[in-house]
Amino acid sequence: MNQTIETILNHKSVRSFKNIRLTESQIEQLVEASQAASTASYQQNYSIIGINDPIIKRKIAKCAGNQPFIEESGHLFIFCADLYRNKLMSEELNIDIEKTIQGVDATIVGAVDTSLAAQNMVIAAESMDLGVCYIGGVRDGIIEISELLELPNYVYPVFGLVVGYPSEENDKKPRIPFEGIYHENKYNLDKMHIIKQYNKDTNTYYSVRSGKSSDRSWAKTAISSLNRLPRTFIKDFLNKRGLSKH
Ligand SMILES: Cc1cc2nc3c(=O)[nH]c(=O)nc-3n(C[C@H](O)[C@H](O)[C@H](O)COP(=O)(O)O)c2cc1C
Repeated sequence: MNQTIETILNHKSVRSFKNIRLTESQIEQLVEASQAASTASYQQNYSIIGINDPIIKRKIAKCAGNQPFIEESGHLFIFCADLYRNKLMSEELNIDIEKTIQGVDATIVGAVDTSLAAQNMVIAAESMDLGVCYIGGVRDGIIEISELLELPNYVYPVFGLVVGYPSEENDKKPRIPFEGIYHENKYNLDKMHIIKQYNKDTNTYYSVRSGKSSDRSWAKTAISSLNRLPRTFIKDFLNKRGLSKH
């Protein structure tokens, strides 16, 4: 196995950090790694906002589900889908792209570009012995955070990413086995037995994992998060920002 794959396979989210800030040069390297990701039609539909002001960081941590480790991390990046930059450029070129960027597909393209860039940062950070955790909780406070960061229309936060030196590491969470996730030539409906067995195995994982043993399983965790109230305000928020209108 080569070192890149080893880094990828060793991934685990980190939620406990040493009190060490990232250096400017680390931040630049991480952003450069993000930018090397593929991007739809070379559109580069994202912006990355680094938060080093402790007051802003605290406000975001509060809006993003009150997750205290956000404040403790070495750096907080807010990954935003950004169709505004291309809107400005279209005006320079006198081409009307409004109809396109106001569609749901453009919102998807923005989120995809943003996610690819973020995941490149994750791999780069982990290869530098840094730990990371995505912060989807940012979308709980999407309205307040967008105002706080002065995001213009056609820009929205997709998630945050905290990066820093781990002070504590979780065990690696087992994934669905290859046969459960990989289909050949068509979607195979007959995989539930693999998924059920995997769920049992994760129950064992949770009961023996180091530090905090609990009576959980993959499905209990995943489904309880899907059972929360949906963020119904997001559609209206995106519409007001000029996005996802049709
Ligand atoms: C888009 C996205 C949003 C996430 N949001 C949060 C979050 O707000 N808080 C948190 O503690 N973990 C968050 N996570 C981390 C997941 O909980 C974690 O990736 C998952 O449990 C698998 O664990 P692992 O990353 O250690 O393998 C998020 C992950 C993703 C991809």
